[in-house]
Amino acid sequence: MTSDVDARHGRTAGWAYTESFVPEDDVLLRARERAAELGCHAPPPGTGAVLRVMAASLAARAVVEVGTGTGVGSLWLLRGMPADGVLTTIDVELEHQRAAKRAFAEAGIAPGRTRTIPGRPADVLPRLTDGAYDLVLVGADPYAYPEYVEEALRLLRPGGVLAVDGALHEGRVPDPARRDEVTTVVREVGRALRADERVVPALLPSGDGLLLAVRR
Ligand SMILES: C[S@@+](CC[C@H](N)C(=O)[O-])C[C@H]1O[C@@H](n2cnc3c(N)ncnc32)[C@H](O)[C@@H]1O
Repeated sequence: MTSDVDARHGRTAGWAYTESFVPEDDVLLRARERAAELGCHAPPPGTGAVLRVMAASLAARAVVEVGTGTGVGSLWLLRGMPADGVLTTIDVELEHQRAAKRAFAEAGIAPGRTRTIPGRPADVLPRLTDGAYDLVLVGADPYAYPEYVEEALRLLRPGGVLAVDGALHEGRVPDPARRDEVTTVVREVGRALRADERVVPALLPSGDGLLLAVRR
């Protein structure tokens, strides 16, 4: 019979196995290294693999990413999108976007496939067209998640997918004793999406939590 400890170990082994099930190539590993150097939390390979699956299953030609970082999530998305798909990615940090552009070049991504927009998503998102996007990834500035989620729901076409990275906020969201402001904001975003009739939601435990919501 399996003891609790064995079960826990089993889960741990299973967890590690699933998170690294789709390995990263050298380009992604270098982008991840740059993220660590710049103090930017890149999504782990398990989350990246889910993003690639979502982009591929949607045949996503138009994708928005809030929080470019050094391009780890961007590369996973681009690799799931069709060859003519365009990723619009927004970040306040020019240094991060420079690193991301380097990763896109190393990956042989054609320049026309990425629109890297420096700036605040609160300024940039309202300029993007309603219902014109297949997938929106939100992965920066958790205080502003409620605003970004509302913008994303406006941008998505019916059947398009919103992905919110960091939905467990460093594992704090499930713990009701954690009531600091940012954890509360992220927790409420999850609850609101769960109750929102405009979407079909699911929360995946990969990485720091990936909340998916399909726009009806
Ligand atoms: C967690 S990282 C993004 C990870 C990225 N998606 C990836 O795959 O590597 C967060 C990024 O959000 C950016 N950021 C932080 N605050 C921001 C804000 N208010 N608006 C836009 N970007 C912001 C940071 O510069 C950083 O590059």
